[in-house]
Amino acid sequence: MLLLDQQPVPIEAAAERQANPFHEFDTRCAWAAFAAANGLQRSDRAALVDRIDDGLHRIGRNGITATPFGRDEALSCHFGMSASGGVYVKDETGAVAGSQKVRHLASIMLHLLAAEVAGHRRSDEREPLAIASCGNAAVAAATLAAAVEWPIEVFVPTWMDDSFGAWLRELGAVVHRCPRLDDDPPGDPAMFRFREAVAGGAIPFTVQGPENSLCLDGGRTIGWEVAAACADRGIAVPDRAVVQVGGGAFAASLAAGLRGDGPVRLDPVQTAGCAPLAQAWQRVAPRLVGAASVPSDIAREWAEVMSPWPDPHSLADGLLDDETYDWVAVMDGQLAVAPAGRPIVVSEERIVEAHQLATDAGYRVSPTGAAGLAGLLADQDRQPTERVLLVMSGVSREPPGAPVR
Ligand SMILES: Cc1ncc(COP(=O)(O)O)c(C=O)c1O
Repeated sequence: MLLLDQQPVPIEAAAERQANPFHEFDTRCAWAAFAAANGLQRSDRAALVDRIDDGLHRIGRNGITATPFGRDEALSCHFGMSASGGVYVKDETGAVAGSQKVRHLASIMLHLLAAEVAGHRRSDEREPLAIASCGNAAVAAATLAAAVEWPIEVFVPTWMDDSFGAWLRELGAVVHRCPRLDDDPPGDPAMFRFREAVAGGAIPFTVQGPENSLCLDGGRTIGWEVAAACADRGIAVPDRAVVQVGGGAFAASLAAGLRGDGPVRLDPVQTAGCAPLAQAWQRVAPRLVGAASVPSDIAREWAEVMSPWPDPHSLADGLLDDETYDWVAVMDGQLAVAPAGRPIVVSEERIVEAHQLATDAGYRVSPTGAAGLAGLLADQDRQPTERVLLVMSGVSREPPGAPVR
């Protein structure tokens, strides 16, 4: 993935940092490089970041800010970590729309706004944004779209809650329920309708790298923020990240953000009810021995390597992407460190246990967002001296113990 292949530059300690990661990491972002190449100075770019924040405030939301990070004493104790080891948590539950998704989408939005300022697009003739999602990504997308008054169409599965649809509509989104059509191939019907909308002129405002790789740009801010917090405190970045994976953009860009300050091993986590990445890894791992990234011939074998999961189901419903769309970039993250990270597949019982444990530790997190913790619970190889990064994300909208979908 070209965007993630940029030479990683370590993050230096700083006495002061800007609250909004898109201000702080401007010179690292691809959207800002595009804007600069089109004549937008740093102050022009900062004005676009502020325009989004102002819009968020106008609709009653907080702006985009850095999220908390630190060693979690209760979880470190739970896992019997030594003083030198520990469980480190990045807490995204207080982010705009309650998850990391806003980071991915903000870089796409900033690119679009920069293109308008540069005269490549007309602000009075905006094609609609389009996204396929029924969870955190849809809320983040509709929130950002409302903040800048950009029309948006959200493609959702038939099983989505009515209340969720009403919520999206309140934000001004047009919501399309997507039943499977007789001639649909295997895969997600909402994704097919989304792609048709994009073919018809809509803008892919989405959190899957193959649909719009600019989502990976802003996703890296989460890794940069962890690296910056470690640099400022004079500590090394964690040894490994155990990260929940759905479509894969999150894990891929987190790993890419940490690459300049690593080595940080990436262990992706999926649930037994939907584990297409783990299945794909089993298929290709023998051919990846000794590789530092996925060779291009393997990356081109999509149909052979990544097959749609037939019946995705889990309480961690944000991870039910039937394909791990960013599988190449996630595997690149796994292979960047030797020995490579490997997928961890967790049972529903582990998800329930992790959700309860995270809730007890004080995180208002959903089962989806606690799935990384489930991975750590399930991991037989964990060591008391290692420093493990988890990301709690996806603010809880339901109490622990809600039924499996
Ligand atoms: C809270 C949370 N964590 C992780 C993920 C997984 O992210 P990705 O689909 O980029 O793998 C999601 C996706 O919906 C999510 O909502």
